Amino acid sequence: MSPTRTISVDLGDRSYPIVIGHGLLGGNFDLAPHLAGNDCLVVSNDTVAPLYLDELLGNLRGCSVESINLPDGESFKNLETASAILDKLVATRANRDTTVLALGGGVVGDITGFAAACYMRGVAFVQVPTTLLAQVDSSVGGKTGVNHPQGKNLIGAFHQPNIVLIDTDTLETLPDRERRAGLAEVIKYGAIADAEFFGWLEENMPDLLRKNPEALAHAIGRSCELKAEVVAEDEREAGRRAILNFGHTFGHAIEHCQGYGEWLHGEAVAAGMAMAAELSDLDSPDLDRLCSLIEAAGLAAKPPAIAARDMLTAMGMDKKVTQKQLRFVLLRELGEAFVTTDYDESRLQQILEATN
Ligand SMILES: NC(=O)c1ccc[n+]([C@@H]2O[C@H](COP(=O)([O-])OP(=O)(O)OC[C@H]3O[C@@H](n4cnc5c(N)ncnc54)[C@H](O)[C@@H]3O)[C@@H](O)[C@H]2O)c1
Ligand SMILES: [Zn+2]
Repeated sequence: MSPTRTISVDLGDRSYPIVIGHGLLGGNFDLAPHLAGNDCLVVSNDTVAPLYLDELLGNLRGCSVESINLPDGESFKNLETASAILDKLVATRANRDTTVLALGGGVVGDITGFAAACYMRGVAFVQVPTTLLAQVDSSVGGKTGVNHPQGKNLIGAFHQPNIVLIDTDTLETLPDRERRAGLAEVIKYGAIADAEFFGWLEENMPDLLRKNPEALAHAIGRSCELKAEVVAEDEREAGRRAILNFGHTFGHAIEHCQGYGEWLHGEAVAAGMAMAAELSDLDSPDLDRLCSLIEAAGLAAKPPAIAARDMLTAMGMDKKVTQKQLRFVLLRELGEAFVTTDYDESRLQQILEATN
């Protein structure tokens, strides 16, 4: 088993550690020094709580702990669910010494972080991500929020956690489809920022799919390091952080057009990355390598059939639009991404039409 590893997200007085290891929930790691005080609210959901809540509560022995379980699913990532958490905080008279812990995937993490950001203008927050996607992406970087019927993540706040506690043992129970979806974001880091890691993924994808613990720990660690570097450079996405959205302008449009939940976020991002790579005009061997790695992870590099018009409309609603001009994250080569509004419109049209 790999030893516990700590990666730091350097954000001045908002810096925090990402701790990665196994058996951490059950007590291989003491959370107490990372809490604001003695009072905790653990937010989880109906699927994850029966699996891991008791273990986490064991770790929080000595604290006064309340918990709330949300219904499971992206369709519940809305203001109403965030409001249920706020109601619980009010009902239990939570104060500035309270720490709100998110135990679950990206949905629980995003909603919980948003509620923690809102309550009393911000209380302490801890991420305990239990999906691969949440471990490599959503739990790191402080973006929190909920969906609006008119668009994904339209309502949100930046709120950094005190710590991200990644217990890789939780991946044991994660359905394969969710694991593959998480691998999309892992591939993303290689594609945008680390060609060597991309090569490592090509070699080790079979081990990752077999849930080899060392391989998973390395993939999670490197992904978190890369995300931490980008976030430390540009916390509020004034510039470089936008490269983390590689594949997401297309991916969000796929999710929107298919109806949230039909295609998992990571699945949509995988196909979105292939589309963005095509728009990038990558060398064809690099494009093939990206599509092959996506497929080796058991993901589709080809998007579902959606009318080009519908995709364009959905992309027009994307938050990454500046003054009605679409912004894309493109690749210069594998391992190097850039953000641009200068793209080939007829090529975009061709790519969108090719899905049918
Ligand atoms: N904040 C960010 O920076 C950021 C980045 C990327 C994605 N996101 C958001 O993350 C969300 C997607 O997150 P996700 O992919 O984790 O989905 P999710 O939270 O819906 O989890 C997927 C499913 O797995 C279940 N689950 C979680 N952990 C489990 C475990 N250990 N064993 C068994 N089942 C488990 C969940 O209950 C759910 O049914 C989206 O809403 C997306 O917008 C946010
Ligand atoms: Zn994503």
